[in-house]
Amino acid sequence: MLILQTVDELKKWVRETKKAGETIGLVPTMGFLHEGHLSLVEKAKSENDRVVMSIFVNPAQFGPNEDFDRYPRDLDRDRQLAEGAGTDAIFVPSVEEMYPRESQIKITAGAQADVLCGAKRPGHFDGVLKVVTKLFHLTEADMAYFGQKDAQQLAIIESLVADFNFPMAIRRGDTVREEDGLAKSSRNVYLSAAERDEAPHLKKALEMGKNLFLQGQDPIAPMTDYLTKNTSGKIDYIELLDYPTLTADIQNDAILALAVQFEKARLIDNIIFNPKEN
Ligand code: PAJ
Repeated sequence: MLILQTVDELKKWVRETKKAGETIGLVPTMGFLHEGHLSLVEKAKSENDRVVMSIFVNPAQFGPNEDFDRYPRDLDRDRQLAEGAGTDAIFVPSVEEMYPRESQIKITAGAQADVLCGAKRPGHFDGVLKVVTKLFHLTEADMAYFGQKDAQQLAIIESLVADFNFPMAIRRGDTVREEDGLAKSSRNVYLSAAERDEAPHLKKALEMGKNLFLQGQDPIAPMTDYLTKNTSGKIDYIELLDYPTLTADIQNDAILALAVQFEKARLIDNIIFNPKEN
């Protein structure tokens, strides 16, 4: 597996790959890899000749009081996991390599960023759009892979690609979970032992809420009660919206999403379902 640290090294690899007539799948990550990330590599491998993974903790998407400095990092471990999953190349740029100068152009997410995490983390999705735009152009990927675990991010990136005719496809990966239902996340390492025991209740609350909704009830208050009783975390939001428009009027699929702030970790999770099929 190649380890590419600079834009020039990446561009050279892209040039050679394209010259050989091979397609490129991109899996953008912030590292501290787990099976969620690796499931995206597996999907990318099955649909492309070559797979490049980026590992970059993107300062542009962290707020001033968020966890950029203490975001977990372990490049040696990531290298082994990425290679084991069959990744062809990892792109691991420094912040200076990625952002050599103050950007003169701003990319701003639209109304899809006014709800859920976007409402709680101002500017977060603008930072995500900034980095993925650069990664899409640098890698010339035919397909880029994102997890439903971060469903709002996925929906906003799909809008970026659709609205500005990026010559590529965005592919969705299912949420990978621990056996007890907790969605895998790099941030799970921040949980205390007691919080880790409580964390599966997030998925349970989502399932309960979905069933209530399908029975015609408003799920938000019962879910709030359930999480308040069963976890020590503070509920940041619980919302039920249309997916992928993220508007209140459910016409397509429905997304039931929540965020809970524990002492050191803010966990998010969601389920997406078709209200008509159930
Ligand atoms: P990160 O949190 O490292 O996640 C990288 C990718 O892995 C995202 O597409 C995310 O949705 C996916 N992912 C995370 N946990 C998952 C799980 N349990 N199951 C399936 N997929 C999962 O998301 C980011 O990084 C960044 O915002 C990024 C897109 C890289 C831009 O900086």
